[in-house]
Amino acid sequence: MAALEIRPYAPQDLDALRRIGEEILADGSVFPFESLQGVLDHWLAPGLHTFVACLDGEVLGSYELGPNRPDRGSHVANAGYMVAQSARGRGVGQAMGEHSLELARSLGYRAMQFNQVVSTNLSAVRLWQRIGFRIVGEVPEAFRHPSLGLVSVYVMYREL
Ligand SMILES: CC(C)(COP(=O)(O)OP(=O)(O)OC[C@H]1O[C@@H](n2cnc3c(N)ncnc32)[C@H](O)[C@@H]1OP(=O)(O)O)[C@@H](O)C(=O)NCCC(=O)NCCS
Repeated sequence: MAALEIRPYAPQDLDALRRIGEEILADGSVFPFESLQGVLDHWLAPGLHTFVACLDGEVLGSYELGPNRPDRGSHVANAGYMVAQSARGRGVGQAMGEHSLELARSLGYRAMQFNQVVSTNLSAVRLWQRIGFRIVGEVPEAFRHPSLGLVSVYVMYREL
């Protein structure tokens, strides 16, 4: 996807972020949040690096990146990603994933860890594996899936 631009989030992107967040909340099967405010508070928290992926000026996706844990855990990055439903399966997620790995490296992080990849979220699991993450742990029944009930989550990790 040659013309995809990944740039820092700006206040004018808020509406697009809200729309994408609403879609993911309506689905309910991948993020723990149950309110849009919860998503936005997390995504735009002070100290995080938030980026958007745009094609022809339209925001198709976003990611946020920051330390996984404070202080003695802060050399490991954590990140979250979301892509508009209508834009999925075109490489936007992979482009943001690769961009975030480069950003994490440039910020001096040693590794990246995802704490809660819902095990039934196969497109995410496959995507993270494709860009070098491995499943280092599985936490049973850690996510209340709206239709499947209690499902496990993966901890996924890669060195940088
Ligand atoms: C997970 C998520 C970020 C992936 O974003 P995406 O833009 O669809 O990701 P990609 O397009 O890079 O990859 C998705 C699929 O499209 C395929 N694909 C990528 N580019 C393609 C292209 N040009 N043509 C055809 N298929 C393509 C990939 O091979 C992949 O296939 P797979 O799922 O069968 O392995 C997105 O589904 C999402 O926002 N989900 C909800 C939020 C979420 O789950 N976030 C992550 C939580 S851990």
